[in-house]
Amino acid sequence: MSIGTLEELLIDELKDLYSAEKQIVRALPKIIKAVSTPELQQGLANHLEETKGQVIRLEKIGEILGKKMTGKACVGMKGVLEEGSEVLEDTKKGLVRDAALISACQRVEHYEMAGYGSARDFAKLLGQKEVAALLDETLAEEKNADRTLTEASKQVNAQAKQQG
Ligand SMILES: [Fe+2]
Repeated sequence: MSIGTLEELLIDELKDLYSAEKQIVRALPKIIKAVSTPELQQGLANHLEETKGQVIRLEKIGEILGKKMTGKACVGMKGVLEEGSEVLEDTKKGLVRDAALISACQRVEHYEMAGYGSARDFAKLLGQKEVAALLDETLAEEKNADRTLTEASKQVNAQAKQQG
């Protein structure tokens, strides 16, 4: 057992998020390529750039806390992303695929929102104000990405319904 304190739990959560973000940076280009709706494609491309910034933000947090962010594999995100790639096998290019990819991407965002919300609260409780503020910035970006996906889904889902 290596986690006995809230501080150790925070570090563990941060490592998990670091692994998750790096997996997302690797997975998003393939998803972006597979999308047909230009607005959705642009939204995801923007979030890829944002995600690269989130990796750097976690590295900065690691420096503040004097801890390495590496060394953990986020198994949860691996599973969520695997389901995302299943969409690419199970659908052909088009609006139904786009609707499925929005659903898959929103799973990613919600997973992250849960992680960042918890980590931010731990940091706050531990008096790590700067860390909490940085985590809050990323949390706001994830919430915004989720809202953008919900917006995109309105048009995509309605058009997907016309297909088939
Ligand atoms: Fe993220």
